[in-house]
Amino acid sequence: MKKLKIKLNKLVYPLFVKDGKGLREEVKNMPGIFRFSLDTLIPEIRQITDLGLKSVLLFGVAKKKDKHGFSAYQKDNIVNQAIIEIKRVFKDIRIITDVCLCAYTLHGHCGIIKRGSKVIDNKETLKVLAKIALEHARCGADYVAPSAMARHQVSAIRTLLNKYGFYNTKIMGYSAKYFSNFYRPFREAANSYPAFGDRSAYQLDYSSSKQAIMRIKSDVKEGADIVMVKPALSYLDVIKEAKAKITIPLAAYNVSGEYSMVKYGVKLGLWQEKDIVNEIITSIMRAGADIVITYHAKDIARWQKKM
Ligand code: PBG
Repeated sequence: MKKLKIKLNKLVYPLFVKDGKGLREEVKNMPGIFRFSLDTLIPEIRQITDLGLKSVLLFGVAKKKDKHGFSAYQKDNIVNQAIIEIKRVFKDIRIITDVCLCAYTLHGHCGIIKRGSKVIDNKETLKVLAKIALEHARCGADYVAPSAMARHQVSAIRTLLNKYGFYNTKIMGYSAKYFSNFYRPFREAANSYPAFGDRSAYQLDYSSSKQAIMRIKSDVKEGADIVMVKPALSYLDVIKEAKAKITIPLAAYNVSGEYSMVKYGVKLGLWQEKDIVNEIITSIMRAGADIVITYHAKDIARWQKKM
């Protein structure tokens, strides 16, 4: 069998950052994935870069939450502090930041809720998402990645970034983000469970690929530099269809639940971790992903180093 070596520069490693000191909290149901405080994050990133990985995707675990996600766009929040610190210490790392509200709002939804209702106000949400992205850009993020599934989030962010001269800050749109069961372990990691209802009003219906392709095309038009399909494994057809229709890079997010299944399978002795991870990531790339965001990235890099 032809064994393709996964190229490390095509992988993105997600990282959770949290206020505190000396933290290295393992995420329940995601063995091997931790929440770091600033002081433990830096040695972690040193390891990551020494292993040959080039990109990280930052998620913040919010200290303060309110109705409007105020702390998400404050310069002193943990994500912004992390960007500044990483950029101070490391010259060659690409920082991508998740731009969303679910971890910063008391209701745990990805947008601003209309007063007296349970419905998301898209227009208000766009304003806040753009402010979050601007703050990330100011602190030195290379890419901002809106994941709220608010309509026209890419153009709202592009417009504000350009207004402040951040022409070089790029946008990775979570363009086709499905309403999926596979995000469950992530919500524990980021403490971002919705307090009522679910995300089906703004995330895509998995019975079809039509909306996904429409959203991808519209994000391309709005100025996205990378578009994404999420999750990856149950959506290889969507990846393939999207790839055939665009010329900009396509990312696929191999999400938390996909990771947990592999890890628990390994614990139960169902398969060899290295073999199954190689099969999964290679399949996602075969389907058409140019970039794969995966919690397995560090392990993959480690295995390659030992080879
Ligand atoms: C924020 C966000 C989520 C993920 C990435 N950004 C969770 C969600 O939509 O509830 C999921 C990532 C994963 O499962 O690994 N909206």
